Amino acid sequence: MASLWLAGWGVLLLSCILGFVVPSAPTYQTYYFDQKIDHFGFYEDSTFKQRYLVSDTHWRKPGGPILFYTGNEGDIALFSNNTGFMWDIAEEFGAMLVFAEHRYYGESLPFGNLSYSDPKYLNYLTSEQALADFALLIRFLKERSEARDSAVIAIGGSYGGMLAAWMRMKYPHVVVGALAASAPIWQFEELVPCNLYYQIVTNDFKKSGPGCAESINKTWSALNRMFKSDEGIRWLSGTFRLCAPLKSQDDAAGFKNWLSETWVNLAMVDYPYPADFLMPLPAWPIKEVCKYLRNPNLDDKQLLQNLFQAINVYYNYTGNTQCLNTSQTAVGSLDDLGWSYQACTEMVMPFCSDGITDMFEPQTWNFEAFSDDCYKQWGIRPRPKWITSVYGGKNINAASNIIFSNGGLDPWSVWR
Ligand SMILES: *[C@@H]1O[C@H](CO)[C@@H](O)[C@H](O)[C@H]1NC(C)=O
Ligand SMILES: *[C@@H]1O[C@H](CO)[C@@H](O)[C@H](O)[C@H]1NC(C)=O
Ligand SMILES: *[C@@H]1O[C@H](CO)[C@@H](O)[C@H](O)[C@H]1NC(C)=O
Ligand SMILES: *[C@@H]1O[C@H](CO)[C@@H](O)[C@H](O)[C@H]1NC(C)=O
Ligand SMILES: *[C@@H]1O[C@H](CO)[C@@H](O)[C@H](O)[C@H]1NC(C)=O
Repeated sequence: MASLWLAGWGVLLLSCILGFVVPSAPTYQTYYFDQKIDHFGFYEDSTFKQRYLVSDTHWRKPGGPILFYTGNEGDIALFSNNTGFMWDIAEEFGAMLVFAEHRYYGESLPFGNLSYSDPKYLNYLTSEQALADFALLIRFLKERSEARDSAVIAIGGSYGGMLAAWMRMKYPHVVVGALAASAPIWQFEELVPCNLYYQIVTNDFKKSGPGCAESINKTWSALNRMFKSDEGIRWLSGTFRLCAPLKSQDDAAGFKNWLSETWVNLAMVDYPYPADFLMPLPAWPIKEVCKYLRNPNLDDKQLLQNLFQAINVYYNYTGNTQCLNTSQTAVGSLDDLGWSYQACTEMVMPFCSDGITDMFEPQTWNFEAFSDDCYKQWGIRPRPKWITSVYGGKNINAASNIIFSNGGLDPWSVWR
């Protein structure tokens, strides 16, 4: 179970502004490349099959460029489906498109179905190993004579965007440039204030309808009052049509986390067109949500009934949802588990909210508690200073040819 400090982000790290809808079912070929499980030591010498997708319909050969998607935490087909930008520009650039799956996700499991069963198997799930996979795969792709002179450009969104940027920094001889979309490479240590993220989420709701952020701000204390009595808890379970009724006050934190995650997810997918990335949603979904949250000055029950209508935009846009499941926020292909491990090792991102400049309940960043949770879940402890040590933090003046693109609504734009 995610701890409080994981609220809203342990779930996923994914909201790239490259996410234009792919017009029609994209056509690509699927291949597998033998990768060493451990690029940085010689004792573990076995290999696994890394999946990658290739579309060369528009490739101008020889020498046309290769646009290389540096896969992030999920099934690579999901990113291929949701990175319409690459499909849009392939013809104009005469480019080959390659989508490389990140190890430990989708089908690219170094130890098959054992990969997640023991910390000793998870040991090779790091961004450094993933970048090395990409470097070797690109080297292999360029062995064919038609590709020898092809420039390779790394492209990615969110964590994939960080990987694209780091790919250019660490392997400048392999990729000539990178497009890093919504890539929060500074969401580490104290490079940016820990409360910015929730402020951006709050602003998205402020912008999307009068009274909206203020209403959400008021739901927390209304919920706390409801959770004080058994009758209130029963009323909540019924009103929110929960699959599994809330049992006691102990369920309050989990329920509120689920709501926070819902707001954060909405901020990440507040696209101006209907899309089905995390959930099937209308265009500008936050505007739809805010239609139910115009009046903050209601009594608790009225306010919470409106809250239910509002989150139903996220959970029941199709009308096919029988009941709301508080253990579910996003859907299928995104892999919470792998990201949770990465967050507990290298990707330590401090988040906090203050309840004043944002619409969330105040939550401090508590590294010790976070670390203890990681130890409980994975048997390992995070190294919060590693990422800035290995990739440079703000000291990246030596890097070149990297475009950092951001959408103003996307909370992952914090680090700008
Ligand atoms: C990608 O899109 C295809 C075609 O629409 C669909 O069949 C497939 O399930 C999608 N894959 C993922 C992982 O979203
Ligand atoms: C893993 O897969 C193998 C072969 O497909 C199967 O025999 C085994 O039961 C699976 N193990 C687990 C833990 O699922
Ligand atoms: C989802 O929408 C359908 C159609 O409007 C409705 O019948 C159903 O009760 C809704 N489910 C929930 C959990 O509200
Ligand atoms: C709720 O979601 C969890 C996690 O996906 C799942 O294990 C559980 O079966 C779901 N519960 C219901 C009642 O659908
Ligand atoms: C939330 O409520 C608190 C306390 O009433 C207030 O100080 C804060 O400004 C509110 N935040 C927003 C975004 O409405």
